[in-house]
Amino acid sequence: MSGLETSVEALKRLEAEALEAVAGAEDAGSLEDLRVLYVGRKDGKISGVLRGLGKLPPQDRPVLGAEANRVKASVQRALEERKDELASGRKGRHPGLDLSLPGRPVWRGGRHPVTQVVDEIWEIFRSLGFTRARGPEVETDWYNFVALNTPLDHPVVDEADTLYLKSGLLLRTHTSPVQIRIMERYEPPVRIIAPGMVYRRDTPDATHTPAFLQLEGLVVDEGITFVDFKATLAEFARRFWGPGTKVRFRPSFFPFTEPSAEVDVKRVATRPDGSLEETDWLEIMGAGMVDPAVLENVGYDPERYTGYAFGMGPARMAALKFGIRDIRMFYDNDIRFLSQFAQP
Ligand code: PHE
Repeated sequence: MSGLETSVEALKRLEAEALEAVAGAEDAGSLEDLRVLYVGRKDGKISGVLRGLGKLPPQDRPVLGAEANRVKASVQRALEERKDELASGRKGRHPGLDLSLPGRPVWRGGRHPVTQVVDEIWEIFRSLGFTRARGPEVETDWYNFVALNTPLDHPVVDEADTLYLKSGLLLRTHTSPVQIRIMERYEPPVRIIAPGMVYRRDTPDATHTPAFLQLEGLVVDEGITFVDFKATLAEFARRFWGPGTKVRFRPSFFPFTEPSAEVDVKRVATRPDGSLEETDWLEIMGAGMVDPAVLENVGYDPERYTGYAFGMGPARMAALKFGIRDIRMFYDNDIRFLSQFAQP
């Protein structure tokens, strides 16, 4: 009878070995390997014992057969249970690891609200046939002032407003020098939009920051008139602010445009209760017909070519658009503020 005992013992050892292996399996793949190894129909170790029963003396078969079936069922149950555990992520070897917890949110970047406004402005002008240009932020007196018909004894050139570098170069105070750089390089027709950072010696307050974005526009060609200027900017304003927007051109002065204008809009805004109201007049840009002296400075023939230019502040536009009272909030980089504008 020792043969039978040994076989029952061997089955119990096989069971213990299988249960331990199953408990230690970390994924469905290793569980499947174990299933094949122990209870697989063809070559499974336990199935092999069952298949070999026929060769045993008839009196030994019931005991060993019953034990083999019990071990087989036990291992199969263990396999099922471990499979469920792994699927639900509970218990197992890492009791602290609960895979059923919802995942942590993944931080996704979004475009800055001012960038969103720049992109929107760009998209409108792109559809009107403009291309995009840019120029350096460190400039010379010539590009920032002189070529733009602004003599160096003009009050805006004052060191109190302009940030000069030791080299005598300066941080551009507006994007208008891009007008000069583009006209120097290209013959008309010119039709560009140039967004970029500009710098002024300003004390920060609700409407000023010493570094801010500007967006320049320039159109020069034969036969460009004040009508083109007004119609294009009015079209832009209505597309940006909505179809009901009223546009007003107020006389102004810039050394590089003649005549010059401030462009104001009165837009239809939605109150929190859903009703509509007209806003006050909001100043959105400085603009004008390019001064012939500027065209001469870049070697364009002012008898042949005319044009218009405009400059606006996207942060100001964003503040008006989103109802933000203090422009500094756009530059504080407080994620609680910025994430409210989240848009990929
Ligand atoms: N550069 C002017 C400013 O910074 C704006 C402007 C641009 C005005 C183009 C007229 C034409 O205020």
